[in-house]
Amino acid sequence: MRSLATLTAISRTVLKGFTLLFLVAPISLSAQSANPYEGNRAAIRAGGALFGNECATCHNGDATGLNGPDLTQLFALGVSDSRIFRSIRQGVSGSSMPSTEAPDQEIWAMVAWLKSISTVDPFESSGDAEQGREIFNETCMGCHRVSGEGGSLGPDLTRIALVRSRDVLARAIRQPAASVARNYLTVTLVTGSGERVRGLRKGEDAFSIQVMDTNQRLQGYIKADLAELIYEDTSLMPAFNTNRLSDTQLDDLLGYLGSIQAANLP
Ligand code: HEC
Ligand code: HEC
Repeated sequence: MRSLATLTAISRTVLKGFTLLFLVAPISLSAQSANPYEGNRAAIRAGGALFGNECATCHNGDATGLNGPDLTQLFALGVSDSRIFRSIRQGVSGSSMPSTEAPDQEIWAMVAWLKSISTVDPFESSGDAEQGREIFNETCMGCHRVSGEGGSLGPDLTRIALVRSRDVLARAIRQPAASVARNYLTVTLVTGSGERVRGLRKGEDAFSIQVMDTNQRLQGYIKADLAELIYEDTSLMPAFNTNRLSDTQLDDLLGYLGSIQAANLP
């Protein structure tokens, strides 16, 4: 994991004015579980500035997410301050989320800021989660895994409600082609013998391409042997418009996806 120490050093210089504030009003911060700066306006401002410097490349300046997840809903989902503190301190292993050596008070200031901008209850879904689970198992599980079960053509959705807002999720289901997740480029290739294979590009270099076909078999092809290779500007996921999935069913599905996330919170 990359460390943010250098970035922090830079922003600490930039933010000398803010940092002074912490010197004037020192608080014992070790082993805190409640945020000592919650609701403290100056700390919240400083936290927002720190976040803009160090985290915006991945999370966007307003924390709505870019390469990293939307963070505006963490609190609404019931994630605790101390868990967020820990994630920022330690990073998230297996992801690009780095650890940081920033002082505790800077981290608490960012947590205070995140809380101040957090949206109230974005994932409140009036949907029936149990009903949603049935729809999911019938319609989506062939391609998506949840808690270790399901297909692997599409991304694992266990944590999806934590990293995408409700509206973004609804759009991903209604119009998947509008924003295709990274690493899920759809390709069709025609082999020398005329066989057509449609699937997801999983790897490619100048000479070869690896494709996971719709039967979820991963296969490599030598480009020189192919009759055709087409990069499609669409998602392999079918669009679930209102004919295939009513608004009520969509709401149930979202209720279900939100509930898995809640069940997985430490
Ligand atoms: C290089 C990209 C990157 C940078 C820089 C980055 N993050 Fe992240 N962050 C991520 C990714 C990716 C995740 C999702 C990790 C996962 O759950 O798989 C994440 C997750 C998080 C989470 C949620 C963790 C949880 O417990 O679920 C928080 C909070 C967070 N980041 C805060 C920050 C803060 C604050 C900074 C700046 C100090 C920052 N991030 C910098 C990529 C980044
Ligand atoms: C034929 C396989 C297939 C089926 C069936 C399918 N999906 Fe997908 N899904 C994919 C693929 C492939 C992607 C990645 C490409 C993209 O983003 O569109 C994806 C992406 C998504 C995303 C976006 C994930 C992200 O990281 O933003 C969501 C949400 C999603 N699917 C939900 C569903 C739900 C809910 C259903 C059932 C109603 C469903 N999918 C059915 C293949 C499928």
